[in-house]
Amino acid sequence: MKYSVVRGTKDILPDEVELWQYIEETARKIFAYYNYQEIRTPIFEVTELFQKSLGDTSDVVAKEMYTFLDKGGRSISLRPESTASVVRSYIQHSMYKTQKVSKLYYCGPMFRYDRPQAGRYRQFHQIGVENLGSAEPFADAEIISLGVHIFDELGLSDLSVALNSSGCSVCRPVIEERIKQFLGNSLPHLCKDCQRRFETKPLRILDCKNKKCNNYFSALPDIRKSLCQECKDHFNSVQEYLDSLGIEFKINPRLVRGLDYYNRTVFEIVSDQLGAQNAICGGGRYDTLVEKFGGPKVPAVGFAFGMERTALVLQSLHDKKEFKKENLKLFIVALGEMQRTKGFYILDEMRRAGIKSEMSYSDSNLKTQLKLANKLEANYCLIIGEDEVEKGIAVLKNMGTGDQEELSLDDVVTQVQERI
Ligand code: HAM
Repeated sequence: MKYSVVRGTKDILPDEVELWQYIEETARKIFAYYNYQEIRTPIFEVTELFQKSLGDTSDVVAKEMYTFLDKGGRSISLRPESTASVVRSYIQHSMYKTQKVSKLYYCGPMFRYDRPQAGRYRQFHQIGVENLGSAEPFADAEIISLGVHIFDELGLSDLSVALNSSGCSVCRPVIEERIKQFLGNSLPHLCKDCQRRFETKPLRILDCKNKKCNNYFSALPDIRKSLCQECKDHFNSVQEYLDSLGIEFKINPRLVRGLDYYNRTVFEIVSDQLGAQNAICGGGRYDTLVEKFGGPKVPAVGFAFGMERTALVLQSLHDKKEFKKENLKLFIVALGEMQRTKGFYILDEMRRAGIKSEMSYSDSNLKTQLKLANKLEANYCLIIGEDEVEKGIAVLKNMGTGDQEELSLDDVVTQVQERI
């Protein structure tokens, strides 16, 4: 084989697509209940958009972006995520002027040049939501509840919600100073990433998965104690509202997110079936991004979940057949040249009547065609032979029971419709 997919990408073949469609349809249905509307933005944007929002020193921007100069010499990047694009579009189209709160969702491919492994791809797909315009902790609780609702509806109840507050511009410096003070003496023993983050983003050190570094974090003071009063109140309210909705969560004081725009609430929904890449969904509040992009002061909160990881967990729980869409209802078995032309016409009529139908265009015998119908799992076969056409009939065979009956060709579509 001369060509194959690029490393870190994959084909989603028809068999698997049914599962993907099931996930998408479920998410769309639940988004509608919560009054979110779809937005579609381009898959590439000017590079600066991502640098400004995710942060120059974030792993995504520093190491993982697909960036190129277009023919006009502009630096363009394939989107590594969609929050920045949605915020860009929100400001560009002045959505804040027409609605106090904009509730948007999206679905599509994202691109990150990371080392591929199970559950981690270079082109992956996200379904995400952004709620722009509400600073209320109700909005945070709604967003988390919405994520949990989608996974519940998908039948994935074995997931857990990890929650934390990442503070704000007032208390974050205090928190970071505490981390620096605490880890200062251990710095030479920490990994290169931690040493770099110590200077640029001390909070992100908490995210380090290196076991050796983790030994130094165990006695780290709880960052919640350093939150300012407003952040504390906000965090308490989010927890109270989640409790009132019966949503279970676990506070993880070490949960910090890899993208720069977050403040206050951060959360992840994790599955222990996913190994190292255990976060199926991640999100949080980002109250300063709209303003940073030149828009008005608009608070926001959102999340995105990965389709590949969701599909992986679902697949481990179910048989592929459970996600199969509607069966093939009818297979037309036409025997002989003239009958094939007749069959082709009837096939078209059946399809226009909304009956999922198929036929073989090659000239094969009854046995071969019935075998094919079986392989395609057709519920019924409509057999049109020379004798049948002469009598103005066709034979409808129930492929499950083997029962057969003769139908008049004059109103064959209506009769088939009544029986299937
Ligand atoms: P994120 O945590 O970077 O957040 O990504 C969200 C989800 O996308 C992850 O939990 C994971 O399921 C999936 N994902 C991320 N990278 C990969 C990859 N390389 N391969 C497969 N799946 C992946 C965001 O992207 C934020 N924009 C979420 C958000 C929306 N925050 C506020 N609004």
